[in-house]
Amino acid sequence: MSNALVESDAPFGLNHGPHLTGSYAPMSDELVLTDLPVEGEIPSDLNGVYLRNGPNPRFEPKGSYHIFDGDGMLHAGQFRNGEFTYRNKYVQTADAMKNLDAGEELFWGVRNSVKDSKDQPMADVSNTDVIGHGGKALTSWYLAGIPHIIDPITLETVRAAPEYVSGFGNAMSAHFKVDEDTGDLMYFDYYTQKPHMSYGVVNAQGKLVHHVPIELPGDRLMHDMGITRNYSILHDVPVYHDEAALEAGRHKIVFNASLKTRFGVIPRFGDSESIKWFDFSPCFLYHVINCWEEGDEVIQIACRYMPAKKADGSIDEERTAKMIGNLVMDARLWRYSMNMKTGEAKEQCLNPDFNVEFPSYNSALTGSYTKWGYFVDHHPEDFRWVGVRKMNLDTGESVGD
Ligand SMILES: [Fe+2]
Repeated sequence: MSNALVESDAPFGLNHGPHLTGSYAPMSDELVLTDLPVEGEIPSDLNGVYLRNGPNPRFEPKGSYHIFDGDGMLHAGQFRNGEFTYRNKYVQTADAMKNLDAGEELFWGVRNSVKDSKDQPMADVSNTDVIGHGGKALTSWYLAGIPHIIDPITLETVRAAPEYVSGFGNAMSAHFKVDEDTGDLMYFDYYTQKPHMSYGVVNAQGKLVHHVPIELPGDRLMHDMGITRNYSILHDVPVYHDEAALEAGRHKIVFNASLKTRFGVIPRFGDSESIKWFDFSPCFLYHVINCWEEGDEVIQIACRYMPAKKADGSIDEERTAKMIGNLVMDARLWRYSMNMKTGEAKEQCLNPDFNVEFPSYNSALTGSYTKWGYFVDHHPEDFRWVGVRKMNLDTGESVGD
């Protein structure tokens, strides 16, 4: 057996880093596949569609590739009356269309965008999340962008939805949350300028019904948020742009362990002043599993990014920042509780044994108590998934290896 790479394993050659070759190689075709081989039987009463979004560059990158770069590509598995159909399709953002018209990649990526592009913004390729909302699907971009409305069955991009965003940043966060009972969609936006954050609600009819500024102590690079039935939980993490590097035209992030990680709890339609902040131990946090209310307490279950440690046990800020930037995950299942009456903040590691991230759960329960979460086991040194795990969100018990 030969170890030589075939063209589909490395469509852009080997000069753009490790995340475009082998099993990371992008797909070039948009497919509709039916009559696929089935092991066992598809339940005839299972009807619906599973959607996934992710970066999949259409053209050769202009420089070193980061796994956050790349055009958004949607993948769908549709179950209907015992039959299964697979589809995949690019998200057709304005920037992706510019590339398509030019027949080449016009934009720089996150590793070299500012200096090399002479202030040309990176492409908003809506490649990060996809969630059902108002009978359609909605895609997002990790740096905060314009959400795009997608037909969840055909995966056609219906249109951009600039009316969903507002304010200084005029964009929607990588991750947003939909209350499936009311149809409300909650999101945030963030930017280097004051007040650094905004919070918004789009209703089931696609109308932006609430948008308020949220004042943070400085530039912050949060990634996710949570909701309960009555509140939204916004993040202030001790991670931000290195100011000198940013001025010099480079992307470099700082992890500052002398700052707290703070979570702000705001009523769903609350004004800027109604947010209550709770202090926790310093950490970064990529993904929230779910949040809910228990009496006076707001509970947030998340994957806490574990700061790297030096030999003397103190936090290694530089290594932590590098790990976050390179998506080298070291995360544990964590429970945060915030008492809205007393102001008490408590945190607890639910399971120290498993490096778990990219959580999923029953989205019909968004904002309500959820017993089970589903995770991937993360490789400790590379952006690689090595297993799937089901965990009890009360006890942290792992029930599947
Ligand atoms: Fe994410």
